Amino acid sequence: MRSMMEVDAKIYVAGHQGLVGGAIWRRLRTAGFGNLVGLSFQELDLRDQAAVAAFFDREPPEYVFMAAARVGGLRPTLPFRRSSFTTT
Ligand SMILES: NC(=O)c1ccc[n+]([C@@H]2O[C@H](COP(=O)([O-])OP(=O)(O)OC[C@H]3O[C@@H](n4cnc5c(N)ncnc54)[C@H](OP(=O)(O)O)[C@@H]3O)[C@@H](O)[C@H]2O)c1
Repeated sequence: MRSMMEVDAKIYVAGHQGLVGGAIWRRLRTAGFGNLVGLSFQELDLRDQAAVAAFFDREPPEYVFMAAARVGGLRPTLPFRRSSFTTT
């Protein structure tokens, strides 16, 4: 993997325990990137703007891979079907 990122660059992978984030995390590790930061949902809720700002102030990453999201298939979406399936 050729990369412009330095192997010791601090890289924050948001959603690193998820399907996509986990794959990115493993790919970066395999490519030799050793300064990865992964925070669980409990450690940093990305909906909490103040907590996110505090994290970026405290230990600013040089790169961010954003793979955190609330993902659902058909069943989790059913309660929201009106907003999910209608257009305005
Ligand atoms: N899977 C696919 O095939 C695919 C394909 C194309 C695009 N995508 C997109 O890629 C993104 C990730 O999908 P995924 O399949 O990897 O989902 P996933 O397996 O459910 O992983 C999502 C991750 O985001 C974390 N998360 C959710 N809300 C958060 C919050 N408020 N703060 C911090 N972390 C939060 C989850 O933490 P917890 O585990 O603690 O809840 C989980 O680790 C989505 O935008 C999806 O649409 C996915």
